[in-house]
Amino acid sequence: MILTGAGISKESGLDTFRDAEGIWAKVRLEDVATPEAFHRDPGMVHEFYNARRAQLRQANVVPNAAHLALARLEREWPGEVTLITQNVDDLHDRAGSQSLIHMHGQLTKARCPTCNLVSPWPGALTIASQCPGCHFEGLRPHIVWFGEVPMGLRRIYTALDEASLFVSIGTSGSVYPAAGLVAYALEKGVERTVELNLEPSDGSRLFDERRYGPATEVVPAWVDALLA
Ligand code: APR
Repeated sequence: MILTGAGISKESGLDTFRDAEGIWAKVRLEDVATPEAFHRDPGMVHEFYNARRAQLRQANVVPNAAHLALARLEREWPGEVTLITQNVDDLHDRAGSQSLIHMHGQLTKARCPTCNLVSPWPGALTIASQCPGCHFEGLRPHIVWFGEVPMGLRRIYTALDEASLFVSIGTSGSVYPAAGLVAYALEKGVERTVELNLEPSDGSRLFDERRYGPATEVVPAWVDALLA
């Protein structure tokens, strides 16, 4: 089981959240990442996600060596590999990861609050964007906001019950339930836990092995060692 966070996409040109230059240093999450914010000012919430969606489409924003190494691990590892990401970007998808759970949603999709249809949405969303299924006017980003339940939790906990190895990559470990997955895996008897990050996360003491440095260096080296 591998859990990734914003740190793995940093070297692809996407900002993290809680670093000094991170997204939450520039924007108040209460203004753009809660159901209340969307109710209050949907235009402002759309603007925030439209900008991030547009950034994702820039030609230089591509999967980096860390995303590619995890896709290779899934292809070459003799057992099962499940990748859980908190990232709403599509860099793991584009790198070729197949067994992938986007627990915080996906930037490139929109969801209808009325009929729940999830549609591919590569461009901008506005308050007038219509659901292609039921034509309701008022689509929302397919994003899990603060106060909402993450996606795929049943699949995540079922996979964790069986996991022998839990690896956390590029996450500060400050947002639950993602931050609690390592403790859950330990309770269920996981054999080994590994943290790969730029610096020790909030829960670093829960990991047997810790490697610190930029993801594009640390992750490919760790995958090479595991497959060797
Ligand atoms: N390589 C590896 N790790 C890095 C790099 C890098 N190049 N750059 C930064 N990091 C590390 C930081 O040290 C930090 O520990 O990545 C982590 C990023 O932490 P956060 O910004 O808190 O991002 P994340 O853990 O993914 O946040 C979780 O918070 O706001 C929400 O929904 C959002 O999914 C997100 C959740």
